[in-house]
Amino acid sequence: MENFTFHVSTDIRFGKDRLDELPEVLESFGKRVLLVYGGGSIKKMGLYDQVMARLKANNNQVFELSGVEPNPRVETVRRGVEICRDENIDVLLAVGGGSTIDCAKVVAAATLYEGDAWDLVLQRRTFKGPALPLVTILTLAATGTEMNSGAVISNLSTNQKLGVGSPSMLPKVSFLDPQNTYSVNAYQTAAGSADIFSHLIENYFKRTEGTDVQDAVSEGLMRTVIKNCPIALKEPQNYEARANLMWASSLALNGLTGNGKTGSWSCHPIEHELSAFYDITHGVGLAILTPRWMDYALSDETVDTFAQFAWNVWNVEERVPMLAARIGIQKTYDYFKDCGIPMTLPEVGINEEKFDIMAKQAVEHNKIKTMAYVPMDVEDVKEILEACLTESSFV
Ligand code: NZQ
Ligand code: ZN
Repeated sequence: MENFTFHVSTDIRFGKDRLDELPEVLESFGKRVLLVYGGGSIKKMGLYDQVMARLKANNNQVFELSGVEPNPRVETVRRGVEICRDENIDVLLAVGGGSTIDCAKVVAAATLYEGDAWDLVLQRRTFKGPALPLVTILTLAATGTEMNSGAVISNLSTNQKLGVGSPSMLPKVSFLDPQNTYSVNAYQTAAGSADIFSHLIENYFKRTEGTDVQDAVSEGLMRTVIKNCPIALKEPQNYEARANLMWASSLALNGLTGNGKTGSWSCHPIEHELSAFYDITHGVGLAILTPRWMDYALSDETVDTFAQFAWNVWNVEERVPMLAARIGIQKTYDYFKDCGIPMTLPEVGINEEKFDIMAKQAVEHNKIKTMAYVPMDVEDVKEILEACLTESSFV
C-alpha cells in the first residue's frame, strides 16, 4: 500500500427530511446565496419550492444559475462567475446531480481566479487556488462529486471534457436525502449505478499490492450496487435501495477505495472522449466500455485480480482462474444490459468515424499510456472502441 492523506471534511447530512437544517448551514457562510440547478427536475419534484421557502424564511438573498447541462459547459460556468462577482455571492448552493454540482464547484473557484474559467480547468489537478464555499443537495446517485474535490467540465468548441480539482472545491456540507432520487428515471438510475460501479472498478484494477482494505471495501460496494440498482429500477420509491445507492455513490469516489493505490484510470479517460464528441450520458458510455476494456486487459499477468473480482463480486463458482475471469466479465456485461443500458456504441449514435481522434485525445489528455493498469496506446484504445460496435460475448 502506498502512503496517502485522507482528509475529506465534507459534513454529510444523510437521510430523510433534513432540509430544515439548511438555513443554519448556510448562515455560517453568509446571506447571499447562488442557487445552482439544472434543466428543471428540481422544480418538477418540488425540491425547488422546499429550498426557496427555507431561504426566504431565513432572509437569504438568492440569485440563480439555472439550466446547467448534463456534461456541464464552460459557458455556463462563466455565466455563474459573472453572477457571483456582480452580486458578491457568499456561498453557492448546488441542487441536482453531478453536472450541477461540478458546475458549481468550478464557478466557486473561477470567481476568485484572475484568468478565464477554461484556463482554470486546463490546470487539472495542479490547480491550487481558493474557492467560495459550496453546499450541495444531491438528487442523483452516481458521480460521488458530493463528497470529493473533483469536477468535470466540457468545452464543446474544442471537443474537450476535462477533470479539474483542488481541496478548495470540496463541498463544505452535502445533504443526501435518498427520497430526492425517487424521481430519477430508469435510464439515469442505471447509468448512475454504472458510474458508481465503474469508479470502483477503476480503483480496484491497479498495480499496487497489499491493498486488502481498499479492495474489500470496493467489492462490498460493488455487491451493493449489483443488489440495489435492480430494486430501484423496479420500485423507484424503495427507500433502502435508493439509500444504499446514494451512500455507495459517495464512498466509491471519496478516496476510500482509491487512496493508497497508484496508477491512472482506464475507462473514464476513454468515456470522456465519447462525451466530449457525442455528448452522451457518462454512465452509459462507461457501461459500454468497461467489459470490452476488461477483455482487453485480461491476460496471464492480470488474471489473478480478474478471478478475484469474479469470485468475490459475482460469486462465480468456476475455480479455474482464467475461466472464472471470463465469466466475471460476461456477468458484468449482462448485468448492465439487464439494467436496460444500451450496450453498443451505435445504439447511442456513435460509429467509427471519430475513433482516431478520440483515441488520440484519450491518450494525450491522460496518463493511460504509462500509468494505466494495462498501459494503452492509441491503437489499443481504438481496438477497445471497435469492440464496442457490436454485441459481445466473453466466454
Ligand atoms: O438537469 P436536470 O433537470 O436536473 O435533470 C437531470 C439530467 O437531465 C436529471 N436528474 C437529476 N436528478 C434528478 C433528475 N431527474 C429526475 N429526478 C431527479 N432527482 O438527470 C440527468 C443527468 O444529470 P447529471 O447531473 O448530468 O448526471 P450525473 O450525476 O450522472 O452527472 C454526470 C456528470 O458528472 C461527471 C460526468 O462526466 C458528467 O459530466 N462526473 C463527475 C465526477 C466527479 N465530479 O467526481 C466523476 C464522474 O466520473 C463523472 O465524470
Ligand atoms: Zn464516473
